[in-house]
Amino acid sequence: MKPILISGIQPSGKLHIGNYLGALKNFVDLQNTGRYQCYFFIADLHALTENPEAKDLSVNIINLAMDFLAAGLDPKKSIIFQQSKIQSLQELKWILSTLTPVSELMRMTAFKEKVLQPLKLSDRKKITKEKLDEIIGKSNFGLAEYPVLMAADILIYKTEFVPVGEDQLQHLEFARMLVRKFNGKFGETFIEPKPLLTEVPRLMSLDNPNKKMSKSLPAGCLFLDDSPEIIRGKIKKAVTDSGREIKYDSKNKPAISNLMKIYQAMAGQSIKSIEKKYKDKSYGDFKKDLTEVIVAYLSPFQKTKKRLKAQPQKIMKILETGAAKARIVAQVTMEEVKKKIGLI
Ligand code: ADP
Ligand code: TRP
Repeated sequence: MKPILISGIQPSGKLHIGNYLGALKNFVDLQNTGRYQCYFFIADLHALTENPEAKDLSVNIINLAMDFLAAGLDPKKSIIFQQSKIQSLQELKWILSTLTPVSELMRMTAFKEKVLQPLKLSDRKKITKEKLDEIIGKSNFGLAEYPVLMAADILIYKTEFVPVGEDQLQHLEFARMLVRKFNGKFGETFIEPKPLLTEVPRLMSLDNPNKKMSKSLPAGCLFLDDSPEIIRGKIKKAVTDSGREIKYDSKNKPAISNLMKIYQAMAGQSIKSIEKKYKDKSYGDFKKDLTEVIVAYLSPFQKTKKRLKAQPQKIMKILETGAAKARIVAQVTMEEVKKKIGLI
């Protein structure tokens, strides 16, 4: 049997090139090796933690399904589905939550970042324990439970590999901790999932190279759907570092290094050869070429997506078929789990 590989993305807004280079492109490449039984899903339940409007969520779900397919995920090779269609996931999430110390959830970086997001950066650093407790007390419980649901997503299919960006590593470590706990108490059941990262595990924002490019900070994002004109404008405006050399130095020149990473990934050229090519050139020259590289790179994706937009029924059918397959596997795991924990 092939090892199981799974990943999900939240339908919480348009995908950006960080999502693509850090995750989605890797999903497609891994699928196409033929070495894994792949599951890719739309993490719609996780997206609820942001309290979206109903009409936005449903649009985002369909849009993300189109992104999956336009990027090259293939329902003949992978199981593609919506997380919310797998009812038994809730049972596993509950069981895992009874093995989870609350303190583990409270120390998750993503949780703290989400909870503190409304505060200014300078205020976050000097926050008192009392104020932090007050903010946590008001935040929705789903944000705290988020990693338990994610662990259930992974474990319910007996997953071995999880392709994600760097920001998800702590959540994966949490899932590994739950596997050790569960197996230690109830006997060998789950496998400790291993992350698979790309060469671009953490693309930084175009307007601030110290922050991750993130759907929740759209000003610094380059979206997969952006038109050539928008891409041109965004790259032109992207911050650069002092000096004028095109040299990779993520510590001292984080902005240009981030742009060079995009160039490297999309043009398939090494950092060394990019440095050589732009040795006596300006930031402006480099940005002009980078724009062309991005436009050309995204063009096939955008063309396919345009075609898919005309076929919403076909997309729903793919998601339904995928969910039917995933549900069976999830149910088999749950029967085993219930027996092991004494739920007769
Ligand atoms: P966002 O933070 O933009 O809302 P998600 O949390 O939905 O993105 O992430 C979807 C996938 O994309 C995850 O595997 C995540 O690790 C990856 N990812 C998100 N942002 C980046 C980034 N800036 N660079 C690389 N990978 C990223
Ligand atoms: N938390 C992930 C993200 O924000 C999405 C996700 C949910 C996921 N469940 C998962 C990723 C299981 C991998 C495996 O990107």
